[in-house]
Amino acid sequence: MLKTYFRTGAAVALLISGAALARAESLTLYCSADEAWCQQIKTTFEAETGITVDMTRKSSGETYAQVRAEASNPKGDVWWGGTGDPHLQAAEEGLTDEYLSPMRDELHDWAIRQAEAAGNKTIGVYSGALGFGYNKDLLAKNNMPEPKCWADLTKPEYKGQIQMANPNSSGTAYTMLATIVQLMGEEQGFEYMKALHKNINQYTKSGSAPIKAAGLGETTIGIVFMHDAVSQSAAGFPVVTVAPCEGTGYEIGSMSLIKGARNPEEAKKFYDWALTADMQSRAKDVNSFQLPSNKAAEASPLSPDLSTIKLIDYDFKKHGSSDERKRLLQKWDAEVSTLPQ
Ligand code: G6P
Repeated sequence: MLKTYFRTGAAVALLISGAALARAESLTLYCSADEAWCQQIKTTFEAETGITVDMTRKSSGETYAQVRAEASNPKGDVWWGGTGDPHLQAAEEGLTDEYLSPMRDELHDWAIRQAEAAGNKTIGVYSGALGFGYNKDLLAKNNMPEPKCWADLTKPEYKGQIQMANPNSSGTAYTMLATIVQLMGEEQGFEYMKALHKNINQYTKSGSAPIKAAGLGETTIGIVFMHDAVSQSAAGFPVVTVAPCEGTGYEIGSMSLIKGARNPEEAKKFYDWALTADMQSRAKDVNSFQLPSNKAAEASPLSPDLSTIKLIDYDFKKHGSSDERKRLLQKWDAEVSTLPQ
């Protein structure tokens, strides 16, 4: 009896150590879209594949900086989401890997153009236009006029009423800086950013934080992607979304495989999965209203329709290049953020 017990025990111990030796599949995901969408992606991918996902949400500029800092000993496998410019910069600096997914045929041209601009070291997963939003209750309470144009935001009546993110950490804010420079020319664009600075109450770390604050009544206006403002009104907050009258820029939210990843096979599985219509159609369930890159994915009727918005011909190649992004950020740090308010 005792002998049988020991024999079974030994067999069980052997089985357990065998299972531990067979490496559990896992993936380290750096996610730069909104927290709720990042969480949904983690849990759905785990449920569908059995691969354990260790997910961290950080803004686009911060994630770029992290991938760069870890380059000699990479910890992340895939970087999903966030604006395309820092993904392009990472590609140019050799921080990400080339990959031709079998899913490419299912994607819109703009997603493939993003890939081709980077030697296939990144790819488009969603897009969305930049704009701003405001809390209509606060606006009415303070008798402020309705802002309709970028030019309106520098008016003295909005002093201390506007929030945007810091373009170093946030891809949203970098898209805004690059948009203004492309719309107005560099000299006038920086004059505009300096005038706007007088009205800013806080530069946040994350791009969508300003409109969440507007929803809660902590600021009147937030400069964000229009779909982030729509998320707030969809959640019941008194937020109005504005497409600036002069025209505006947009993002191609992107995905890249990190060079030297520890789990390259799982990373490719994730990459192919993240380009499926099914995966992208689920974004609207967590109030993420970007336009999906898979042509068959279903966008929400609430997603801002890019064909009705005056879009500039945003030069992604230029503004996602290492030299230009560094130069614009340094100039903003030196000439705008240090000015007294
Ligand atoms: C929000 C938007 C995304 C965008 C991201 C960039 O999550 O919904 O479309 O890509 O911001 O984040 P960041 O914090 O870098 O501005």
